[in-house]
Amino acid sequence: MKIIFATKNAGKVKEVKLMLEELDAEVVTMTEAGIDIDVDEDGKTFEENAIKKAKEIMQASGCITLSDDSGLEIDYLNKQPGVHSARFMGENTSYDIKNQRILEMLHGVPDEKRTARFVSVIAAAFPDGRIVTTTGTIEGMIAHEAKGGNGFGYDPIFYVPQFGINTAEMDIEQKNKISHRGKALRAMKERLKEMI
Ligand code: IMP
Repeated sequence: MKIIFATKNAGKVKEVKLMLEELDAEVVTMTEAGIDIDVDEDGKTFEENAIKKAKEIMQASGCITLSDDSGLEIDYLNKQPGVHSARFMGENTSYDIKNQRILEMLHGVPDEKRTARFVSVIAAAFPDGRIVTTTGTIEGMIAHEAKGGNGFGYDPIFYVPQFGINTAEMDIEQKNKISHRGKALRAMKERLKEMI
């Protein structure tokens, strides 16, 4: 059985394929499935966006489709960039620039006010109309400087106090164990084992 993971983000695909290895299904990307559709992520919540994306790609492909919508909520910035994480400062702006901008916005802000979290909502859309969602979060803080070369996006500025390092300093296995997407995906994997 084929399951499409609806993303064009190479960083996410790597994490997801590794985590869903034990499922009795072949997980393929949209590109691998020959699907090239842009879904407008205009929802107000991660859940709305994840469901919309999964549903549209499922309808186009006829396959069970998983999609994730995720982002970074920074408490000091009223939970921004949130659902706009990818679009913050423009989709094509490099994360070096985005991360530097966030560090500037939090310049001088004390540690106790630098709390933040990554959120991931995974949606599964089945051709028979069933929709399932799971959510995962990881709590952390905005670091004082960017550090680490692993991961993607905001990983270089996301500090995890429990480990004393940024997510960009973790290897992929370590990050998957504790990350928002790891948690949401493990929950989804359990649901899928029951449903397929
Ligand atoms: P999405 O593709 O609309 O879900 O965009 C999510 C955006 O949130 C990404 O492009 C990143 O900017 C950010 N993001 C989500 N998960 C992570 C992560 O694990 N590390 C770093 N940034 C992330």
